[in-house]
Amino acid sequence: MQKTDKYPSIQIKIHWITFVLVMCTYLWVWLAKYVLVSFPGVDHFFWLLHFFFGALVFVFTCIRFVVQKLLQKYIPDVVPPIAGWQYWTATVVKIFLILVYWIIPVAGYLYRCKKGATLDLYVKTFTARCEVDMSSAQMWHAIHVNTAYLALALIAVHSGFVLFNHYARKNNMLLRMMPRRKSK
Ligand code: HEM
Ligand code: HEM
Repeated sequence: MQKTDKYPSIQIKIHWITFVLVMCTYLWVWLAKYVLVSFPGVDHFFWLLHFFFGALVFVFTCIRFVVQKLLQKYIPDVVPPIAGWQYWTATVVKIFLILVYWIIPVAGYLYRCKKGATLDLYVKTFTARCEVDMSSAQMWHAIHVNTAYLALALIAVHSGFVLFNHYARKNNMLLRMMPRRKSK
């Protein structure tokens, strides 16, 4: 494998698949909680989608972390380069994006578990094995919801910075993360 002008294609795929999964997870919960509340059977279906996609986000975030570490040396440089402090700030934001997408699904699961609720992931239904404790359930609920909204702010900062570099500074930051066009 050689260093090219793009991120390794596996990283590009994982990045954009995770992005779609994350967006869908928010969409399902908003549909279930705010739009479809008066349609009990339908809202239940979207709750299950929320749990399932949320669990997939956790799995993909683990995979991306490992792949990122293994392929670090193949990541192309930004040309023309950005200031050191901007590079480090953007890196810290990316590290937080990994951390929050671990914390959010785990907190969602612990909230359900501490409440004594089962977790239906379509392929398998997990029965709660935690000791039911409503005050701890409330704590995980607060962590889940607050971190999920904080994560949206991180996404805005991350993608805003990338788009600023693409359109204002006209460097290759975004293009490195875009899929390679198939040559005819
Ligand atoms: C990255 C993955 C996830 C994201 C981004 C996410 C996001 C959210 C958001 C934004 C809400 C709050 C909706 C609102 O009140 O405005 C919520 C609620 C909820 N989420 Fe998640 N979630 C994820 C994964 C999970 C998982 C894996 C589970 C369960 C195993 C879960 C269980 C719940 C539950 C039970 C609620 C309802 C809380 C309530 O009734 O107030 N979530 N989620
Ligand atoms: C759910 C939303 C997002 C998350 C969680 C996320 C997370 C990440 C992470 C962790 C990286 C480091 C490389 C890797 O592990 O893949 C990264 C890189 C990158 N992301 Fe995102 N991202 C999101 C959305 C976006 C969006 C909407 C854009 C475009 C506007 C974008 C553009 C990029 C680019 C260009 C890079 C490479 C930047 C660099 O190397 O400095 N991302 N992203």
